[in-house]
Amino acid sequence: MPTSRYLALLEAPFPEREDVIALLSPSSDEEKAALFARAHAVRRETVGGHVHIRGIIEISNRCSNNCLYCGLRRGNTALARYLMRPEEILACAKTITDAGVRTIVLQSGEDRRADAHEIADIIREIKARTDAAVTLSLGERDRETYRLWREAGADRYLLKHETANRSLFARLRPSTDFDVRVRCLRDLAELGYQVGTGNMIGLPGQSLADIADDILLCRELAADMCPFGPFIPSPDTPLSHAAAGSVELSLLTIAVARIVLRTVHIPANTSLGTLDPDAQRRALLCGANVIMPNFTPYRYRVHYRIYPKTLRETPPLEGLHRALEIIRAAGCTPATDRGDSVRHIPPA
Ligand code: 5AD
Ligand code: SF4
Repeated sequence: MPTSRYLALLEAPFPEREDVIALLSPSSDEEKAALFARAHAVRRETVGGHVHIRGIIEISNRCSNNCLYCGLRRGNTALARYLMRPEEILACAKTITDAGVRTIVLQSGEDRRADAHEIADIIREIKARTDAAVTLSLGERDRETYRLWREAGADRYLLKHETANRSLFARLRPSTDFDVRVRCLRDLAELGYQVGTGNMIGLPGQSLADIADDILLCRELAADMCPFGPFIPSPDTPLSHAAAGSVELSLLTIAVARIVLRTVHIPANTSLGTLDPDAQRRALLCGANVIMPNFTPYRYRVHYRIYPKTLRETPPLEGLHRALEIIRAAGCTPATDRGDSVRHIPPA
């Protein structure tokens, strides 16, 4: 039987840090089941039962940083680097919208040499040709660059804080600064972006309290979307021999985040699916409401190796078909609207 204290926490309107830590550590399978059921109910009440689909284009794997956990780190000389041409990105965007997907995510490493004006032109062109929302996931840039991209039509920005534990952040992300990252997130929100931030689960040295802090940082920043996904050790990185994050802890985090953060969009990450083919379906049943299939052309996708993945050359819509299969298997239906943050939808 779940303890009455745990059941009470599931209903707490504004859980504090100790409560979040307690929620993340159910003491029995029954408590865990109660958590997942509550998260699923909150998800239906707050963001509905549909699942939003976002189409990802990995436009470049160049990165100026050297994060210890990531295969795109600049020190990884084993990786062939690429930058998709604007016309290739636009063709890929058309594939996404022709398939009925209404959000396009442009993702890359944090490439400080990437030409901000070229990216602005691509955003403008996508917005002129489609009615899709554009999400950027291009790392830390200055406020003026964010403003340029926002004025070009970008709607949303994803910039994971990665970990709210400052010393872990400093150790794992040399030459980057936690305060700068949080400043970027605040700048993005002030510029009118719908903002996404989140963490990695199972980083070496990370505690349950750190994960609670990640969820609470999302609350403090009033994030609109919150990706939480397991760390997967990547060859050719200093953490290649570290243990992978736990799928179960990732699902617990998603469920607790849904209860604490309520109206946010939470993806059933690809990293979950990489560790366990059934984990994304399970995530959709314990709080997640978004899935992000990859549309990057195969010849580039093979080089976007943040962590190892088994890749076959597949037709361009294979990722979408797999996402639809997962949505069906979870007993859900795909959303037909753009899936904006509820905070950004004007009241009727
Ligand atoms: N495992 C899982 N996710 C990773 N990322 C980077 N490296 C890894 C890894 N080894 C995620 C980070 C980053 C995004 C580019 O990919 O959260 O924000
Ligand atoms: Fe670059 Fe981001 Fe990978 Fe760090 S996590 S190396 S910034 S792509």
